Amino acid sequence: MRLRFLIAFGPTQEPIDPVRFISNHSTGVMGRSLVAAAKKRGHRVESVECPKRAQTARELDRLMWGLLPKSDVLVMAAAVADVRPSKVSGTKIKKNELRGVRFVKNPDILAHLAKRKKRGQVFVGFGLESGNLAKNGAAKMRRKNLELIVLQKVTKKNKPFGKKAIDATLMDREGKTAVCRSVTKDKLAGILVRQAEEIFASKNRD
Ligand code: CTP
Repeated sequence: MRLRFLIAFGPTQEPIDPVRFISNHSTGVMGRSLVAAAKKRGHRVESVECPKRAQTARELDRLMWGLLPKSDVLVMAAAVADVRPSKVSGTKIKKNELRGVRFVKNPDILAHLAKRKKRGQVFVGFGLESGNLAKNGAAKMRRKNLELIVLQKVTKKNKPFGKKAIDATLMDREGKTAVCRSVTKDKLAGILVRQAEEIFASKNRD
């Protein structure tokens, strides 16, 4: 079955002033692997790379909101900056005044998109946790109305960014987990695409 995949990935950026921004260590490697894996399986792919196609969380939110109705499977691998400065300065802020920058919370894009979710659609999300993978993962899954979540542990020593192999735990709606140890992102992407296909098929069975 040829499905329409909507895949967002890479880091968002929140400008502070003309020279500074808030972001994170995401490299987009997982997302590019997912795009390739979905194409290889013959699916149609709408790929949204951050910060190229959407720089800020709010831009990404607007873009995804518009694209969602034309997709069967949403894979949200974007690393969204959770906060942004309450206002962006048009001029460079002097270092002594940086302390005065205030932050506000960004929208939770997946939770927002869940409001527009159609019955047959499949949502796949990612979760980075420093501890309590199963409990936090299950809560995240419910909050964002996901069918599948990919959980990765992040600590000072274990950073799952870039091209190296990672340990990932896949959790489904029933709380069933599968652990993939030292898996390459290409391999993990293939597993995820197939699993999303299966979930889509079971959700859309008459
Ligand atoms: N995500 C999102 N919008 C945000 C933050 C995250 O849609 N503002 C998505 C990510 O793309 C990912 C999932 O939500 O698929 C989980 O992201 P993560 O940063 O692990 O979780 P948070 O929602 O930020 O929760 P917490 O900080 O409490 O762990």
